[in-house]
Amino acid sequence: MKSALSVTPSTQAAEKEPAGEVLAIRGGRPLTGRVEVKGAKNLVTKAMVAALLGETTSTLRDVPDISDVQVVRSLLEVHGVRVIDGDEEGTIHLDPSGAVSAHFEEIDAHAGASRIPILFCGPLLHLLGEALIPDLGGCRIGDRPINFHMDALRAFGAIVDKSYEGIRITAPDGLHGANIDLPYPSVGATEQVLLTAVKARGTTELRNAAIEPEIMDLIAVLQKMGAIISYEPNRVILIEGVDELRGYDHRAIFDRNEAASWACAALATDGDIFVGGAKQQEMLTFLNVFRKAGGWFDVHEDGIQFRRGGPLKPVVVETDVHPGFMTDWQQPLIVALTQAEGRSTVHETVYENRLGFTSALNQMGADIVVHPHGIEASDRRVPRRALEQAAVITGPTPLHSADVEVPDLRGGYSYVIAALAAQGESTVRNVGIIRRGYEKFLTKLDTLGADFDVIG
Ligand code: EPU
Repeated sequence: MKSALSVTPSTQAAEKEPAGEVLAIRGGRPLTGRVEVKGAKNLVTKAMVAALLGETTSTLRDVPDISDVQVVRSLLEVHGVRVIDGDEEGTIHLDPSGAVSAHFEEIDAHAGASRIPILFCGPLLHLLGEALIPDLGGCRIGDRPINFHMDALRAFGAIVDKSYEGIRITAPDGLHGANIDLPYPSVGATEQVLLTAVKARGTTELRNAAIEPEIMDLIAVLQKMGAIISYEPNRVILIEGVDELRGYDHRAIFDRNEAASWACAALATDGDIFVGGAKQQEMLTFLNVFRKAGGWFDVHEDGIQFRRGGPLKPVVVETDVHPGFMTDWQQPLIVALTQAEGRSTVHETVYENRLGFTSALNQMGADIVVHPHGIEASDRRVPRRALEQAAVITGPTPLHSADVEVPDLRGGYSYVIAALAAQGESTVRNVGIIRRGYEKFLTKLDTLGADFDVIG
C-alpha cells in the first residue's frame, strides 16, 4: 500500500488508518498472514445500550473501533451517558447516572445510517418514560420494517405515536410483562424484548426468539446486571422483571461475521489467513460449508487458520437464523464460489434484497444469475419464505478489474475481496461503509499483503 500508512502487526493498535473512500486495488496476489478480530459489532452495540439500564457504571471489553460503535457512543452521549475510554485498548466505561431525554433532531443527527436507536426504547421508557425514534437507517438490503418492535412495545403497555419527525413512544403507567410470539425469530426484536422485559413488572414469555450467539451474550450481560432470564427449549425465553439493575463488566463475544469474511478472503484469493480470536463453537455451520467448498481450516487455542484444501467445489447453501448459515456470510462466500468448479446455489431467505451486490461481480467476469423469487430445489433445509431470492454461481470464471461502488457493509467487503482476487487494477468507491463493521480494515489488508492505494 502506498498511502500514508505503513504498519507492522505489533504496531496496529496505535496506528490510525486513513479515512479512505476510494481504493485502487491491484489483484492477483494471495492474502497471507494473521489478523485479529475483536468483539462482535452485533453484540457490542447492544451491550452499550444495555448500560442505560444499570444504576452504576458498566465496563465493556474488546470493543472494536468501527463506525457503528461510534454512532452508538454518540447516541448514548446525547442521552447524557458518559462514555470513557479505559486504559486497555478496546475497553470502555459507560456511566448512565446523568441520563436525560434527547430531541428528535439530536438523535437524528447522531444516528447516521444506524438502526440502533430503536433499541434505546425499552431502557429509555424505564428511565424517562419516553423514547423517540427518528427515521431509521442501516444497510439497504430490504424493507427492514420495525413492526415486530412496535408490536412488542405495545404488548408491554407502551403507547406508540407516529409523527412526521419519527416515532414517539411513552409509558405513562410503566411497563408490564407480556406474552410475545414473534412471527419470525428476528434478532433485533428479540433484543428489544430482552432490553425491555428485564425491568418490566412481572414475567415476560418470548416465543420464537432469535438465539444467535450474540443474543446469548447479551443475555449474559443482562444477567450480570441482575436480570433473571431463562432460556427454555424451542426458542422460548422467560424474563422475570426486576426493580433495579447494576452495571456490568463484560468481554464481548468475538465477531464471527468478520472471522468468516477473512476465511472467505483466504478462499477467494488462494491465500492463508490466521484469524486470531476466532472460535469454533459459534462458527460450526460456517466451517462445514467452508470445508465442503474446498476450504481447509485448523482450530488453534487462540484462533483459526483458513486456506484452500485443493480445488474449490460448488455448494448449495440457504441463509437462515441461528444455527443456520448466516445471511452476513453469503456475500464473501459468493466471491469464493466464483472460483469453484461447477454450479453453486445460494438461497437468501432472511432479507429480500441481499443479492443485488452480485451485479458488480458479474461486471468483473463472474457468472451469477439472480432469481428474484428464489428457485425450487429438492434439497432445501429451510421452508420457503415469500421474500427469498437465489443466486446461481457458475465457475470457475477468472475475475478481471472493474470500477465498482460499495452498496452496503457485507457487499462492500466482498467487492474488495473480489478486486483482490481479480487480475488488473480495480477502483472500489465508497469503502467508508466497510468501516461500519470491520475494524482497521485497510491496516489488516496491508498486513495481509494486499496491493492497494487510497486514492480518494
Ligand atoms: N423483520 C420484520 N419486522 C421487524 C423486524 C424484522 O419483518 O420488526 C424481518 C426483517 O425484514 C428480516 C428478518 O425479519 O427479513 C430478520 O431481521 P432481524 O430483525 O433478525 O435483523 P436485524 O436485527 O435488523 C441483525 C443484524 C444484521 C444481521 C441480522 C440477521 C444488527 C445491528 N444487525 O439485523 O447484521 O444480518 O440481524 O442475523 O445486529 C450486518 O452486520 O451487516 C447486518 C446487516
